Amino acid sequence: MSQNPYLNYLATLTRAAERMQLDESEIVRLRYPERQVQVSLPIRMDDGSLRVFEGYRVQHNSLRGPYKGGIRFHQNADINEVKALAAWMTMKCAVANIPYGGGKGGVTVDPSTLSQTELERLTRAYANAVYDVVGPFTDIPAPDVNTNGGIMAWFCDEYSKRNGHLTPEVVTGKPVPFGGSLGREEATGRGVVIAAKETLKSFGEELAGKRVAVQGNGNVGSVATMLFEKEGCKIVAVSDVSGALFCAQGIPGEKMRQYALSRTLLKNYPLSEGMTFIPGAEGNAALLTVDTDILVPAALENQITAENVAKVQAKYIVEGANGPTTAEADVALEERGIMLIPDILANSGGVIVSYFEWVQNLGRYMWSEEEVNAKLAVQMGNAVASVCANAKKYNSSLRMGAYITALERLTVAQKLRG
Ligand SMILES: NC(=O)c1ccc[n+]([C@@H]2O[C@H](COP(=O)([O-])OP(=O)(O)OC[C@H]3O[C@@H](n4cnc5c(N)ncnc54)[C@H](O)[C@@H]3O)[C@@H](O)[C@H]2O)c1
Repeated sequence: MSQNPYLNYLATLTRAAERMQLDESEIVRLRYPERQVQVSLPIRMDDGSLRVFEGYRVQHNSLRGPYKGGIRFHQNADINEVKALAAWMTMKCAVANIPYGGGKGGVTVDPSTLSQTELERLTRAYANAVYDVVGPFTDIPAPDVNTNGGIMAWFCDEYSKRNGHLTPEVVTGKPVPFGGSLGREEATGRGVVIAAKETLKSFGEELAGKRVAVQGNGNVGSVATMLFEKEGCKIVAVSDVSGALFCAQGIPGEKMRQYALSRTLLKNYPLSEGMTFIPGAEGNAALLTVDTDILVPAALENQITAENVAKVQAKYIVEGANGPTTAEADVALEERGIMLIPDILANSGGVIVSYFEWVQNLGRYMWSEEEVNAKLAVQMGNAVASVCANAKKYNSSLRMGAYITALERLTVAQKLRG
């Protein structure tokens, strides 16, 4: 990875603290993760050979509650990426005003090269390796890139065996029949659309009728695509790792969701009239600079950079992914007057419903999907209102508004705890 995303986090933290005129002593704890765990995971492969994978769990900050954050399986996962993702979780949980700190996990692996049995052995080995540092009141993982409910179920099963009893509240994003919450799978994408709609409203704009381009057709991107269409938007471009689809007349959002659920890559999509497909990285580069009103990066970090930021045509950027914009590009977007709804607000729907799942598990409740979605809309609406209010008060970008909101809450927690 060319950019160290933890340096991006530190640069943004410093800018927000300066804007608030905070003393360094009020934020210095947020510069250092409280704990970083690195493990090696020896796995017997199906062909009998032995391979060792590297795994991480970073616990960034626990001022406001137990560490919370997903587990990523990706060939580029490394300690700096996991540190940044953990720090962003601290900020995100504070913006969402849920009683958690921030953590994140990762294993350096391309899971598409593993069989299901190898994937299960790897997940169980990871759960065993981090057993001592996770737990329902210390650190609660969840899915992230290339991990899903099935993987969370294996993690939960392995933890529960060691713990002596079924402990569903150790992990969220589980399948619904195994302690998961209704509405969790769609929550991040749903939250992206709520964040876009409510923020635009706060600035006197309407979501309906806008053209939208979405990078990434996974859990977050495909749900967002489907729901943007339901809000009356036109989807003009969608991409995944195989390339990008473009169609000025509109791409069917529901179909994109089906593709994501069936794990079919977009390169297999049958092109209709007016549709074009550009394969691979070239397609994704074209998507980021396509003529659209709203751009939703929902794949990986470091996509909008100093190199391509001048060519971005969107008027609004809604960060479905974590850290898709580098710190330099962020400043350039602000100077160009492009409104960016930052990751720690835009994609907080996932952790909000993870919190609801944890509460249901601890209380042995089962809420209806309507109840979960209604609670999500209220919690996200409050977060958007706080962030927009701070952006207006400080005459700053929404990213600064979000960091300021988080820092207000984190510095209060630090003062109270002493
Ligand atoms: N899943 C959640 O609840 C959640 C919550 C908050 C934030 N996020 C963030 O959202 C982003 C996406 O997560 P997800 O859960 O949807 O992952 P996912 O694995 O379900 O989907 C990722 C998508 O990105 C595509 N992709 C991968 N590499 C790419 C590349 N180089 N160029 C373009 N597309 C590429 C994949 O093909 C896939 O369509 C990540 O940044 C993640 O941290 C996820």
